Amino acid sequence: MDFIHALRSALPSSTLSVDSEILSSHAHDTALGQDYLPASVVIFPSSDAEVTIILEISNRFSIPIVPRGAGTGMTGGCNVVGPCIVLSFVRMNRILEIDLANRIAVVEPGVITGDLQELARSHGLYYPPDPASSDRCTIGGNVAENAGGPSAFKYGVTRQYVTGLSGFYVDGTPFHLGGKLYKNVAGYDLLSLMVGQEGTLSVITKIYLRLIPYPRFRATFRASFSNYDQAIAALQAACTSSVYPAAAEFMDRTCVDAVRLHLGIEVPDGDAFVLFQLDGDQSECDVLRDVCLTHGAHDIEIALSDEDQDAFWKIRRSVSESLTAMSIAKRSHDIVVPPDQIGPYLRRAKALGKQEGVTVLGYGHLGDGNIHVNILQTGPAPILESLTEKLLRLAVDMGGSITGEHGIGLTKKKYLNLMFSDRDIACMKAIKEAFDPKGLLNPGKIF
Ligand code: LAC
Ligand code: ZN
Repeated sequence: MDFIHALRSALPSSTLSVDSEILSSHAHDTALGQDYLPASVVIFPSSDAEVTIILEISNRFSIPIVPRGAGTGMTGGCNVVGPCIVLSFVRMNRILEIDLANRIAVVEPGVITGDLQELARSHGLYYPPDPASSDRCTIGGNVAENAGGPSAFKYGVTRQYVTGLSGFYVDGTPFHLGGKLYKNVAGYDLLSLMVGQEGTLSVITKIYLRLIPYPRFRATFRASFSNYDQAIAALQAACTSSVYPAAAEFMDRTCVDAVRLHLGIEVPDGDAFVLFQLDGDQSECDVLRDVCLTHGAHDIEIALSDEDQDAFWKIRRSVSESLTAMSIAKRSHDIVVPPDQIGPYLRRAKALGKQEGVTVLGYGHLGDGNIHVNILQTGPAPILESLTEKLLRLAVDMGGSITGEHGIGLTKKKYLNLMFSDRDIACMKAIKEAFDPKGLLNPGKIF
């Protein structure tokens, strides 16, 4: 193909791969049941200069580009839908600066989120957004999807930490938005628009991130409740007693059993298993323990050392893979409802699953109402797409959203109209057109 020939002539050979395994492994994320085609070529640039060359060739041959990080996304956001150049940022993985005076990190998109967190911590600083895949996902992917995670409850999502971005418009024109700036209200907020764009508006090559002081004290609680309503009431009582947990995570009995089986570890029983993380001081532990007991919790355990806390978090971070391991087929959707609707939503969702002979369960982020509602096939009845629609519609009907942190990608695009009016969607399409008139950036996503 001509564009591959042009790429070969313009770039060092180590930058480019047409190996069939690479073309296939770099053509999708972790979304289950989502189709993809192999990439035409995968490029691993290591500099802005190489990215500029790739954009020029993409334009010259009108060949689309699919930017990607580590491929840990869950909605097919980097899946290949036709001939294209996959632009993998894994080699642009330098932490360029930890600016202590301004408490800002400047990084390339391929930096692993956990690596930045570790380096920040060695300076007494903290980068809070922590998707479950933080040991392997990249900051670039987090910015593309506006990733969240457990700590989003107290600290907010990726967008709240991005103070600046540099990169290129699709035609190769460089852009620089914001910088080491804590406040900036000049013009329309293009910087915010670039976060959560799912690779459809621009190519980002440098990211400025706000860091905050690392918490002086941290503890992780685990507690089992009889139902989510009790857990929600405990969280509410904590918040009105001046104790605001950094994270409040939940999983049901099926999730707990799946993790037990998958990791071979002991986890106490309970229909609503909850992890609270506390960033504050020791006295807050006592308040939280009291409110949990008052609201029916049992098996409360508190971990204080990093090692013990990590062991608790391993349970929570392993839920997704454990559920995949125990089912014939699985679909996972990250709906959001107002937090007090978690219990009612799940009761109705499970009933919908039962009608179709499949298991529906939920786990996720108790504090912000972001439920990972999963459909599992464990017997002969298959998972029907119509059930996905019912579960998403139910969330919207209860005042929620079809995605809280995983994005629209491919898997949710046909449901965008559950959330938005035709006029809203026309505005979004006009924005896409303004940034990418030829539709070369990550085609087929969102709309
Ligand atoms: C989690 C991923 C699925 O919270 O977002 O485990
Ligand atoms: Zn999550």
